[in-house]
Amino acid sequence: MDASVLLALRDPAGIPFYPVVFQALYILTWALHAAFVLLALGSMGLSLYGTLKQKHDQNWKTLTPHLIQTGKISVSLLIVLGVAPLLFTQVIYDPNWYTTNTLSGMWVFIFIYVLIVGYMMYYWYFYANKAKAGGGKLIGIISFAVLVFAGILMHNFAVTSIMPNEWMNMYAPNGVVDNSGWTFNVDIIRLVFMVSLTVPVVGIFLQNYSRFISTREDSTKELVDYTASLGTKLGTIGLLISAVAFVVWMMRVGYLMHPVIIATIVGVLVLLFMVMTNKNSYVTTGVLVVVALLISGVRELIRFDLMAELGYSIYDYPVNLEIPSITMFLLTFLILGGVGVAYLLTMSWKVGKTKGVFDGSQDKAVNKLGNYTLAIMGLWMATFFGWGMTILFKNIL
Ligand code: HEM
Repeated sequence: MDASVLLALRDPAGIPFYPVVFQALYILTWALHAAFVLLALGSMGLSLYGTLKQKHDQNWKTLTPHLIQTGKISVSLLIVLGVAPLLFTQVIYDPNWYTTNTLSGMWVFIFIYVLIVGYMMYYWYFYANKAKAGGGKLIGIISFAVLVFAGILMHNFAVTSIMPNEWMNMYAPNGVVDNSGWTFNVDIIRLVFMVSLTVPVVGIFLQNYSRFISTREDSTKELVDYTASLGTKLGTIGLLISAVAFVVWMMRVGYLMHPVIIATIVGVLVLLFMVMTNKNSYVTTGVLVVVALLISGVRELIRFDLMAELGYSIYDYPVNLEIPSITMFLLTFLILGGVGVAYLLTMSWKVGKTKGVFDGSQDKAVNKLGNYTLAIMGLWMATFFGWGMTILFKNIL
């Protein structure tokens, strides 16, 4: 692939801020997306096993609906959190993203429907299981398969986007233009690694679950011990499988001795030790976040090097500084996002820790955070629409 083609595909308007900032935000937000992808698929997958045991086993009777609920919320979060890396990738790697969307156009189109159908069926599964313990098995399995397929489609887009040398062959195999939009590429070991991560993630989730419910008066010691031990088993086995898949993937792409890869492997080993000893799963989760950021960094490293070799460096992207919009973005992300998420998390934490019904209006911290969130949101809306209208009228009047 000639660099001039890639450079011609860039946005002629340039980008509004320094590329390294978009790159860092991409790494951060993709790690968040991946975290909820893995939690969604992991908890949903385990809940399907739970539906088989739920009727006769007291532990699974409690755990299964909780896993289904966790997966349900995680799907909505993974969708919201998928938008952010999508925006950042199309800012600095627009030649890759848009070429992929053209070559795999049909799959992009199908992806939306796959997601809608898969998520709607998840709700069906949720309600069927709520109505009857052990219910909704078949619909749950189909929904799970559909959502996994959505992930395989995402994988296809990610892989096709880093194959610029092959684009011409995909567009016109043997010189005949194929504009069907059915291009599909899979890198099996990379995919196996991504999917394998669902197991340790759900394992660490279970350790957290056990720790969280251990202080509740209405939870049994049996459930606390069972979930902790199941979490340790799944976390340990899952991490070992993921570590092997990761090493094979890195050997294949020739990166095994790279410092970022070595740091990731060390991170995984530390994580393995922490999961096996299960001293404090909340600290383990902190290390998991660091490992997730490293894995996201590895994905970006592969893409960055590959593109740089072809003469396309994101650091050379023309910058057309636009301070107000980046300021607005960062303030929204950090202040509105930060306070809003703190409010929701505080409330969820307290709901989970309270026996009976939690009344948020009687809680000082929840009240304060709720009021701050509303005030900041009001201010944000006034600024957003006021500013937009001013610019619009200034331009057209
Ligand atoms: C159930 C639904 C989904 C699943 C299971 C899923 C899973 C995945 C996986 C496994 C990857 C990594 C692929 C790889 O590197 O090989 C990925 C990447 C990504 N996903 Fe998702 N995803 C889902 C939905 C979404 C949605 C709705 C969005 C956007 C709104 C999104 C945005 C992204 C982006 C931007 C990337 C990175 C692409 C790149 O680097 O080229 N995903 N997703």
